[in-house]
Amino acid sequence: MEQKIRLQVFLSHSGISSRRRAGEWIKAGRCSVNGKKVLEPSYPIDPDRDVIKLDGKKVVLRKKTYILLNKPAGIVTTRKDKFAKKTVLDILPEKFRHLYPVGRLDKDTTGLLLLTNDGELTHRLTHPRFEVDKSYLAVLNRPLEKSDLRRMEKGILIDKVPTAPCKIHCRDDTTVEITLHEGRKRQIKRMFSALGYRVIELMRLKEAHLTLGNLKPGQWRFLSPPEIKGLYRSVGL
Ligand code: URA
Repeated sequence: MEQKIRLQVFLSHSGISSRRRAGEWIKAGRCSVNGKKVLEPSYPIDPDRDVIKLDGKKVVLRKKTYILLNKPAGIVTTRKDKFAKKTVLDILPEKFRHLYPVGRLDKDTTGLLLLTNDGELTHRLTHPRFEVDKSYLAVLNRPLEKSDLRRMEKGILIDKVPTAPCKIHCRDDTTVEITLHEGRKRQIKRMFSALGYRVIELMRLKEAHLTLGNLKPGQWRFLSPPEIKGLYRSVGL
């Protein structure tokens, strides 16, 4: 039976981009279906019969791969770095360098980072609407005051936009565990900075139900099928 799906969805399932970015590429005129340029992201295609091209290259569906990495400090999360700095993909064997990091960690941030070619899952894990919790351990330059903790938990202004409520648990005066579902650029450092604190160390401990376990910095592993299922469930797939 003929099963049509939207062009934008096909591209994200092929693992080459998130659904949002695929939509932008289509609108920019970079995609064709059976030799004809298509500008409409919701254009229906039959993945078994139609030939889809992006920038003139045929797009094929690839096996989905899910990797959990303990990111060490000193490397960037972006896929390609203009200035040829080491990226997280350089840690993985060559055959996994087509994967995409799910969200970003700063160069000096360590800890849990997922990499996959599952575009739809990436989109949902990184979009605040799906409210997937991420927990971080932050070491501060001075003890966190109770009143500041409460202000941060309620939400504070960054770039004039309030942050969503988050949870903070103090391990000691200067070491805190913070759980939030947003992922704005350098969010945790900027939240603390807004209240006069400096984050000296930052490590992501958890994303959804996934933890680092005993992975050392620089080590990685595949997610197990139940872990993948759990991630899907956590974003309503
Ligand atoms: N918040 C930050 O400030 N940096 C990160 O790397 C992640 C979250």
